[in-house]
Amino acid sequence: MLDSNFCNIAYLVAAVLFILDLKWMAHPRTAVRGNRAGALAMLIAVAATLLSDQFRVGQGGIGWDYVLIGLAAGTVIGAGAALKVKMTNMPELVGLFNGFGGVASVLVAAAAIVEAMRRLGEGSTLDAQLAVAIVVTAIIGSVTFFGSYVAFGKLAEFLAVKWKLHPWQRAVKYGFIVLLIGASVLYAATEGFAPWAIVVVASAVMMSAILLSKKDSFPALNQLKILSFAASLVLAVLVVMNPNDQALFWALVAVAGLLGVCLTFSIGGADMPVVIALLNSYSGLAAAATGFVIGNTVLIIAGSLVGASGIILTMIMCKAMNRSLANVMFTALGPSADTPDADEVYKHVKSTSAEEIAMMLEIAQRVVIVPGYGMAVAQAQHAVRDLANLLEEKYDTEVEYAVHPVAGRMPGHMNVLLAEANIPYDKLREMDDANSTIETVDVCIVVGANDVVNPVARTDPKSPIAGMPIIDVDKARTVIVIKRSLSPGFAGIPNPLFALDNTLMFFGDAKKAFTELIAAVKES
Ligand code: TAP
Repeated sequence: MLDSNFCNIAYLVAAVLFILDLKWMAHPRTAVRGNRAGALAMLIAVAATLLSDQFRVGQGGIGWDYVLIGLAAGTVIGAGAALKVKMTNMPELVGLFNGFGGVASVLVAAAAIVEAMRRLGEGSTLDAQLAVAIVVTAIIGSVTFFGSYVAFGKLAEFLAVKWKLHPWQRAVKYGFIVLLIGASVLYAATEGFAPWAIVVVASAVMMSAILLSKKDSFPALNQLKILSFAASLVLAVLVVMNPNDQALFWALVAVAGLLGVCLTFSIGGADMPVVIALLNSYSGLAAAATGFVIGNTVLIIAGSLVGASGIILTMIMCKAMNRSLANVMFTALGPSADTPDADEVYKHVKSTSAEEIAMMLEIAQRVVIVPGYGMAVAQAQHAVRDLANLLEEKYDTEVEYAVHPVAGRMPGHMNVLLAEANIPYDKLREMDDANSTIETVDVCIVVGANDVVNPVARTDPKSPIAGMPIIDVDKARTVIVIKRSLSPGFAGIPNPLFALDNTLMFFGDAKKAFTELIAAVKES
């Protein structure tokens, strides 16, 4: 077993590896090395903790059987999900994993309070540092868990939607609500329906009512955010003063959960990337607070790194959307009553064929490709690269890629796909850079992008995406939009770009469309 000196050295090595991990992850070329460093750091941290004298695993502390069961369950769920998940569903998975971090922190805080009171005896008070760490962990952990569940539900489209759900979506949505109400009522019954246990049930009922709503927002939501925030603070003080009262602790967890649901439920439209980054940061802060609860330095360091990097990512995302964090948290997005009617917007849409586009490409000197979520869905990145190579070889065309920071469904989504297709980095243009010369582009090919090229962001201050910087493809000489239909993007609003005089729609799956284009260019 490791004495505290060995353990601290192992934690130090793990902490250094975590920091290197973040540094290496910042560039696609070193990202794989970063990933490995992070995995190694986690292995060292977990092994050192399990072998440390502090936790005495298998020596009077928790038995190895419990640890191994936990490890096996975590490995099967984690590896299974990571191997099975599609790249386009990554944000849902990240959302869910953030939530697991949150719930783990709450459970550790609950165990810590029970253990501390058992040690100290009835009627004692907790050490102030431990008490504050426990309530902070409970609040952030619970907000993270319930907020992440809502973010997961919105991204997987089973919360706040008006359409019919698939059987699996119904199972997850209603199963969670049944579990929530069932567990809270069962708990209240064991407490003899004491007042604080009733608070747990009331919070669970309110959360369920919100989760059942088909609207993104309703008038009481902002008031409920403020109320549950204030109630969480009051309950936190009461828990510190009365650590023996278990029901008080669970009332705090329940009310903080209600806060998490309210905070995330109204966020929709194009703002989801900000929320995922923010919840990621919360999960780190919850882990750091847990580190204080159990006196584990590596948890404090790793949690702080996740918390800090998550908040930096949140700020980058806010900047990319040109919105403040307060605006994202307190303003509901999504199609509003003022959203123009799609039939009206799309009255003059013109469609085109692969042969017609091939003729345009033959005389184009500058071509810019703007990828979006649809390219990821269709896995069209290799076909996109093949067309670009063909144009360069056959006509000596200058082909570049304009990448919007929130195109797709996760930060850097397009960069990852384009790198996977071996497209050189020097051909990628960031949004501002691409916009500065967009008027000189002969043909701009928009492949599966919608919100990130929607000009209403510039022109309609009432639009849900008003002020979000976009790639100004409408200013190019000719725009070809490749998508399957006229259906909206993530923000759920029509896109007048599709009906502009200089726009032609090429309807179809992106991969199939590019395969047809390659054949047409070869024949022309
Ligand atoms: P979106 O606005 O979501 O539009 C994607 C378009 O792709 C859809 O209109 C869809 O139209 C088309 N599409 C889907 N499958 C296709 C296929 N197989 N072939 C061709 N087209 C296909 O995408 P975007 O422009 O990339 O914008 C991203 C949006 O997601 C933003 O609103 C952003 O805020 C949000 N978001 C981003 C993130 C991050 S971090 N990047 C995370 C969550 C949300 P059809 O159905 O007609 O084909």
